[in-house]
Amino acid sequence: MLTESAEEAGRLLAMNKLVAFPTETVFGLGANALNEDAVESIFVAKGRPSDNPLIVHLADRAQWESVAAELTESASLLLDAFSPGPITVVLPKRSDISDRVTAGLKSVGIRIPGCPIARAVLSAAGIPIAAPSANLSGRPSCTTWQAVVEDMRGRVDAILCKTSAEVGLESTVVDCRTDIPVVLRAGGVGLEAIRSVIPEARMVEQTDANLQLASPGTRHPHYQPVAPLTILKFPANASWPGVLRDEKHELRDEHVSAKLAYCGITRLAANDLIYFESVFESVEEYSRGFYEFLREADRRGASRILCESVPMEGIGIALNDRMSRSADRS
Ligand code: TXA
Ligand code: MG
Repeated sequence: MLTESAEEAGRLLAMNKLVAFPTETVFGLGANALNEDAVESIFVAKGRPSDNPLIVHLADRAQWESVAAELTESASLLLDAFSPGPITVVLPKRSDISDRVTAGLKSVGIRIPGCPIARAVLSAAGIPIAAPSANLSGRPSCTTWQAVVEDMRGRVDAILCKTSAEVGLESTVVDCRTDIPVVLRAGGVGLEAIRSVIPEARMVEQTDANLQLASPGTRHPHYQPVAPLTILKFPANASWPGVLRDEKHELRDEHVSAKLAYCGITRLAANDLIYFESVFESVEEYSRGFYEFLREADRRGASRILCESVPMEGIGIALNDRMSRSADRS
């Protein structure tokens, strides 16, 4: 069912239904975090691996006590600075929060969305809402309700068909259980911004085995379009169109007949080789349009996708992260 009413979406959530709704990052697929069957239905609808924990969404900060055992000092500082907004803080969980929500971890991620539509949904529901991104597991996230319909038609009770996605990439996930917070996933709030509040905050390292284990979701395939994706290092014209040629500088056979899709902030020098492109005015606009570009490339039957990376600053860190996960077929 499609609905345009945030209040109706909230009421359905309170009745343990499964409802997709917009946020300022990406669409979420919500269910009552306090009801195990409702939470279970999220995993079924998405085809999500059961070892990947869910973020619990709250209408306001005072609700933290319904899911977390403690609001640590670092979490409190980060929420003061960036919440409501695109940040998720990981806290020690309350013992009565189901292991289905947290994938058996002793911690729980909480987020208070900034988007007024999401807040209206959460207020109407009146309960904490567990919500992953509203895409089929492994696919690019959804930043339009039409994309949610593509993935979730027939799998959910309702889709709130209003569009938000001012950020376009997911929240920054920060483990705040220790004095020095660790960013587990880059996102809408940049690392520099987090360090302006807590200078010691650090980014999780790929080699940091314990922390990788602490954020299981980062292990699974993510954000993948049907067509294989190749990253062109910023600025793209430095490797373009050379990237299409072999050692003898001839166009590789696989590219001669390819339907190439391109997105980036640089206009390509020889864009007659491109079948479908999106050139964005800024890194922020690129971040907002990235997932929809991947989906549109698939809709148009692109056989290969080229994406330009961006400088590693601000939301560019998150955009580069999503791009490399989209490209990773291992
Ligand atoms: O912006 C967002 O965060 C969106 C919107 C809907 O709020 N949600 C989202 O959820 O991106 P999802 O499930 O697609 O990604 C959640 C990420 C996963 O990488 C998961 O492993 C991590 O957050 N996560 C959730 N709970 C965690 C916890 N207790 N400890 C460590 N990582 C956690
Ligand atoms: Mg996701």
